[in-house]
Amino acid sequence: KIEGELRPQHLDEYIGQEKAKETLKIYIEAAKARGEALDHVLFYGPPGLGKTTLAGIIANEMGVHMKVTSGPAIEKPGEMAAILNSLQEHDVLFVDEIHRLNRQVEEVLYPAMEDYAIDIMIGKGAGARSIRLNLPKFTLVGATTRAGMLTAPLRDRFGVVNRLEFYTDRELMTIILRSAHVLGVEIEEAGALELARRSRGTPRLANRLLKRVRDFAQVKYDGKITKEVANYALDLLDVDKYGLDHIDRSILLTMIEKFQGGPVGLDTLAAAISEDAGTLEDVYEPYLLKNGFIQRTPRGRVVTEFAYRHLGIPWIGSS
Ligand code: ADE
Repeated sequence: KIEGELRPQHLDEYIGQEKAKETLKIYIEAAKARGEALDHVLFYGPPGLGKTTLAGIIANEMGVHMKVTSGPAIEKPGEMAAILNSLQEHDVLFVDEIHRLNRQVEEVLYPAMEDYAIDIMIGKGAGARSIRLNLPKFTLVGATTRAGMLTAPLRDRFGVVNRLEFYTDRELMTIILRSAHVLGVEIEEAGALELARRSRGTPRLANRLLKRVRDFAQVKYDGKITKEVANYALDLLDVDKYGLDHIDRSILLTMIEKFQGGPVGLDTLAAAISEDAGTLEDVYEPYLLKNGFIQRTPRGRVVTEFAYRHLGIPWIGSS
């Protein structure tokens, strides 16, 4: 089965993100009753929490098509204009990594979002003038790992803004049980809970780990995912009890070994682990912060006593 089939198609099959779900349900119902396009929606938060899935659900619940693109994929204003012009009435345009749109492309979106129109320049030099072209009414669904990276004019044009949160172990367990059912793999609740605990609060990772653990269950055991199978496979996959992987641990170890546990600045740390500072901040830090492995201070990031204990390194005490 392809990954897409694990994605829920309807809001009531979607597990977790209760706040986003409840409010979206109302906005969708209201827009449909008025016969209007849904207002533009922005999702932000760490990767893998369901931004694309929710965009697909919005389109499905509205009964419209969805076009998918991303910030880095659109290089010229004309490309954005062409995509907008190809939409049908009330369609969803999903723009992933929307903070990476370049300035000129972003400027095409302002009148498109506000007035459902684009301004096209005709001619060159002194005789140049612009004409306005009307677009179908549409819904822009934007996704970004960092709302802080959006320009104010773009951010202000979204009527609905939702921050996606890490999932609880319970929610992830329910997602894993559902995915196992879709994939036709037998799983015990204890096995699902173990997988959930080690999935960094992230459904995308939970579903990926489920598929790997299924392989172990099939080849090394009798096909059923028990707690024992999950533990065995996840240990081999180098995913620890808190879901930290090799890179998470190397971030913590580098902070401890090279920077005495911090404080260390983001850019310095990124250079030390040969990782891009933006990726460190958007992808790795949120989970480490949320779960108390690191803290942010005005002077930089510090490793917590909890992290030392988890790594089995003696804690010297704070300065
Ligand atoms: N698969 C991935 N994310 C999901 C979610 N939030 N609910 C249900 N199934 C999912």
